[in-house]
Amino acid sequence: MSKGIQDLNGKLAVVTGAASGIGRALSIGLAAKGCNLALVDMDQAGLEALRAQIEGVQVTTHIADVGDRERMKVLADQVAAAHDGIHLLINNAGIGYEAAFPQTSLEAWDKVMGVNLWGVIHGCHFFMPHLAKVPRAHIVNLSSLFGVIGMAGQTAYCTSKFAVRGLSESLWEELRDTNIGLTVVHPGGVATNIMKRSEGDDPELLKRISSWFERNAIPPERAAAQIIGAIQSGKPRLMITKEAVFGDLVKRVFPVFGNKLMGDAVIKSIGLEDMRAKRLIQWKETMVDPCD
Ligand SMILES: NC(=O)c1ccc[n+]([C@@H]2O[C@H](COP(=O)([O-])OP(=O)(O)OC[C@H]3O[C@@H](n4cnc5c(N)ncnc54)[C@H](O)[C@@H]3O)[C@@H](O)[C@H]2O)c1
Repeated sequence: MSKGIQDLNGKLAVVTGAASGIGRALSIGLAAKGCNLALVDMDQAGLEALRAQIEGVQVTTHIADVGDRERMKVLADQVAAAHDGIHLLINNAGIGYEAAFPQTSLEAWDKVMGVNLWGVIHGCHFFMPHLAKVPRAHIVNLSSLFGVIGMAGQTAYCTSKFAVRGLSESLWEELRDTNIGLTVVHPGGVATNIMKRSEGDDPELLKRISSWFERNAIPPERAAAQIIGAIQSGKPRLMITKEAVFGDLVKRVFPVFGNKLMGDAVIKSIGLEDMRAKRLIQWKETMVDPCD
């Protein structure tokens, strides 16, 4: 099933969430290979700063919320009108949300699923007809290590990232005999703004996870280089960082116990043992009388 786009020179890549982190590093890396860009984000200042940094390729910027269906429909037409063919779609825009199930409001579920899952569905839905028109095209969907391992305190985020994986793995099969390849990416810790922007129910938890990221996460440029390599070789599945490679292996050998093993390792590595005890008390309090 290996397809990929070996020669990126003169192709057009649509990158969502381009203004920061992995999307930004990917945009710069793709431009260095001669790839033209349609940069999509809600952060106008971030998009303009990125555009100013890129030279030698055609760049258009587009303000859009990937969760907004009508906007995404129009966006696909706008990008198609501005460029000569669309070859690459990178569904990268995403948000973090750190809270256990009882502390995750239904509004928070809507928000996380709206960006992390519906954003990817909208991208695939509205851009696929355009990708079908060129000889060779490729889609990249950003899932996560937490799209492979279920993690306490990440219920909504994990759900959205498992769903992106399900969508992507189904598309592997549906796209098998077409001109479109697909890579689903499962990163571990990458040093971006995701934690600073993450919402959740506990500021202390966010602080400790951020501190882990500062000490352990890899630079976004390194993640971007691996993703570009996967686009060129047509690799269908990419685990980024050693914890993601290890976590994936453990989970495959021990599907249930492996989850606990990795969960315990994450809690220990971040230093969240006391939070686990606090969560249990919170859970009991929340669940005592759910009808109140
Ligand atoms: N950084 C990590 O450790 C890590 C790990 C696993 C997966 N990921 C995934 O990688 C992707 C990129 O994340 P990042 O770490 O670079 O984060 P980031 O916060 O640095 O960048 C995300 C970008 O997406 C944009 N964005 C957010 N919501 C949007 C929306 N509704 N519409 C359009 N743009 C929107 C933001 O403005 C921002 O520019 C995400 O899907 C994230 O879940 C990141």
